[in-house]
Amino acid sequence: MTAPAELLALAVETAREAGRLVRGRREAVTRMVVASTKSTPTDVVTDSDTAAEVLIRERLLGARPGDGMLGEEGGQVAGQSTVIWVVDPIDGTVNYLYGLPDYAVSIAAQVDGRTVAGVVHNPVSGETWTAMVGEGAWLLDRRIGVSGCAQLSQALVATGFGYDARRRARQAEVLRHVLPRVRDIRRAGSASLDLCALGTGRLDGYYERGLAAWDLAAGGLIAQEAGAVIAGLRGRPAGPELVVAAGPELFPALHDLLEPLGADRDD
Ligand code: IPD
Ligand code: CA
Repeated sequence: MTAPAELLALAVETAREAGRLVRGRREAVTRMVVASTKSTPTDVVTDSDTAAEVLIRERLLGARPGDGMLGEEGGQVAGQSTVIWVVDPIDGTVNYLYGLPDYAVSIAAQVDGRTVAGVVHNPVSGETWTAMVGEGAWLLDRRIGVSGCAQLSQALVATGFGYDARRRARQAEVLRHVLPRVRDIRRAGSASLDLCALGTGRLDGYYERGLAAWDLAAGGLIAQEAGAVIAGLRGRPAGPELVVAAGPELFPALHDLLEPLGADRDD
């Protein structure tokens, strides 16, 4: 068994190196030269996503050849050890494409399927969030914690939308009912940074349907270690169906708002 601290150190070093790479290439990326799209024409992948994932794979598996990796851009590598790295080379690709600063490199280490260490690094702001299971969450050298917000009407809540048009229409319908009940809504465009912002008290709540493992793994651990409750509806675990996240005082109210709205369904 490898100590989570060792895995985290490798993840942080790698995320920062990948961050330098994608930030350095940003000026060369224009909306006209997007390499290709993924699930739908709105779901883009740039050459930088691909190059960063290759670099991350080389660094992680170069240092630990027996490990496996699951990366957003198709970097699936089966390993022999109990460790699997879950990687989003750029979370917030649309922001990256448009020159907006909210994007991040996200790397989590899972041991026997459980996330034990995670890093989310924003190469523009230079902010690096880290967490190890049971050890708390950190923004650079500062320990972080969720806000104490207890009332929905006072809560700043973030969400995100999938790339599929039908799902988006449903998400807009849910949002129509959420918006009048909360302080305001944010849609920053990077799920991992949303989860880190929640853990830092910059948001009070977050929910989103359709997150993939690489969107959730590192940011989810960071939010959880900062004191957030992260789950689905009706006691289900957080996952692609729905992620609801908030401090313990706010979580029940956010859950009870989303549950009758069917926020975990597409129809
Ligand atoms: C997306 C971002 C966005 C969220 C989407 C994700 P990507 O990841 O995290 O905030 O709303 O669900 O797919 O495509 O930029 O890596
Ligand atoms: Ca991505």
